[in-house]
Amino acid sequence: MKVKVCKATELANGQVRSVRILAQTVIVVRLDGQIYGLEGNCKHMKASLASGEIDGSVIKCTMHGWRYDLLTGQCLNESWAKLKTYDTFEADGFVWVDVI
Ligand code: FES
Repeated sequence: MKVKVCKATELANGQVRSVRILAQTVIVVRLDGQIYGLEGNCKHMKASLASGEIDGSVIKCTMHGWRYDLLTGQCLNESWAKLKTYDTFEADGFVWVDVI
């Protein structure tokens, strides 16, 4: 299932936006021409990653600093922790996420 997240112009480079789709929260991040889609809550204590800090290809949770690779969702602090990733794309002037 493909869902519109926002207008393409509303997602600047290095910006994070979150969207609630059914029972799940997804974040999208535009970085250097790519748009990444990830599960929107940290695996540590479920803090929202919508306010996460982007550092290179990593998003850092603002609560306790756990870091996640934007491409794979893998946590760099705890090997067991991995965010689900989603296909994202830009079409017709919007950012879309495919939540299947
Ligand atoms: S809730 Fe994200 S690091 Fe603790």
